Amino acid sequence: MIIHRPPFIVHHFASLGSTNDQLKAMIAAPEGACVVADEQTAGRGRRARTWHSSPGDGLYMSILFLPRSDASSRLPLTGLLAAVAVAETLIERGVAGVDIKWPNDVLVKGRKISGVLAEAVSAGSGSPRLILGIGVNLNHRSFPPELSESATSLAIETGERVVVEEFRDRLLEKIARWYELWLRGASASIIDRWSRLSTYARGQQVVVALEDEKLTGVTDGLTETGALRLVVDGGVRTILAGEVTKLRKGADLSVRQSSA
Ligand code: BTN
Repeated sequence: MIIHRPPFIVHHFASLGSTNDQLKAMIAAPEGACVVADEQTAGRGRRARTWHSSPGDGLYMSILFLPRSDASSRLPLTGLLAAVAVAETLIERGVAGVDIKWPNDVLVKGRKISGVLAEAVSAGSGSPRLILGIGVNLNHRSFPPELSESATSLAIETGERVVVEEFRDRLLEKIARWYELWLRGASASIIDRWSRLSTYARGQQVVVALEDEKLTGVTDGLTETGALRLVVDGGVRTILAGEVTKLRKGADLSVRQSSA
């Protein structure tokens, strides 16, 4: 166990199924408990996807937060602030072309380098506990064929390997800073920073896959709770969850709404 700069206490494991699952098993731990593994054998992504977690190549980390119950509407902003912190850490390490795809994916030149899996866990009668699982591709030189077109890593982008623990500590410092602002209710600062790091924030033609519907429209910023505003035929839709894909420039926008 490593005592990190407060509020994080890092619990390091050589190998785990999923750091999120390990942290769930430690759900009574104090806020800031942070589980890190060198590899995951069952790393999970959003939408029941897997997260490629080869040994020593990536940062696989989950952090426990105990937000007050009156902050529940602002919970989605925690995923956004994690993506902001990852993007800032990558930029600091010399990665060019960093972008954030709503809500929490960090991309480099259109390829995914990091994702966030946020899971709320109820712990008896108290406020829900939040697990933020963060995966960052760092030292991968290649990916399995099914990811080779869509994924990238810091090493692929810069030609340099990084010490995973150093990257982790830089990232935790940034998360601590943004989380502090979140606790103080400074949602606008988080949204402003997210918007300046993301080409998806405004004026971007996108398709958004919802559970049972696909919307085509133009992005128009985020609400104060981090939802995506999408201008579609007939008005503005507020998107709480969905998969966003950029449309090519000049793509036909005549069919703006269709079933998935
Ligand atoms: C996504 O973009 O789909 C989210 C990926 C989240 C991956 C991280 S790696 C650490 C933590 N443990 C997991 O099983 N998943 C998250």
